[in-house]
Amino acid sequence: MAEVIIVKDPQQAAVLYATTVANALKNDPNLVLGLATGSTPVQAYRELAKIIQAENIDVSQVQGFALDEYAGLSEDHPESYHNVIQRTVTQVLNLTPELVHVPNGSMESIQTAGKDYDEAIECAGGIDIQILGIGTDGHIGFNEPGSSLSSGTRIKTLTQQTREDNARFFNSIDEVPTHCITQGIGTIMKARHVFLLAFGENKADAVVQTV
Ligand code: F6R
Repeated sequence: MAEVIIVKDPQQAAVLYATTVANALKNDPNLVLGLATGSTPVQAYRELAKIIQAENIDVSQVQGFALDEYAGLSEDHPESYHNVIQRTVTQVLNLTPELVHVPNGSMESIQTAGKDYDEAIECAGGIDIQILGIGTDGHIGFNEPGSSLSSGTRIKTLTQQTREDNARFFNSIDEVPTHCITQGIGTIMKARHVFLLAFGENKADAVVQTV
């Protein structure tokens, strides 16, 4: 069942996510979290970190699976999602680094990386709680509008709009990769619980269309 919850500000949304995940963690220390990058979930991760610390919740066995990664961008690049997830999630929540996974964007293995990633998620028992943002054009993960609803993790081309939106993280738009590897909508919809957060007027159209 899908539910639309309108809250006062991003802080309230962050608390909603954080309390849901914290309660789930208390019942299941082996929880599998689906993770997103971007600006939207940052506060939610911080809020969750506060509860984990305050209530001394054990997260050593928690597994994480990121939604996506740029293709052909070195994992060492500060804006690779390997690095972003490490900075904004693994370190903030104090997760076990070996248990946090990001799709492999290396061009050498890109043809098989998607299938391998979906298998790894299945092996972990599937994602319990997935957090999502949404692009101004309605993309989820890097699935642009029109993506197959049954798609698995695979290589995709980034649209001009998405590259322009993400240029703020690079020196110029020319540095923004043209391709990515992303969980498919089919992969995402297998998660047992999905939180899609959207803030600000520029996301309003995308939210209306998605609903
Ligand atoms: C992030 C992702 C994207 C973002 C979307 C919104 O892993 O897959 O779908 O959620 O681009 O980005 P922000 O939150 O920066 O507005």
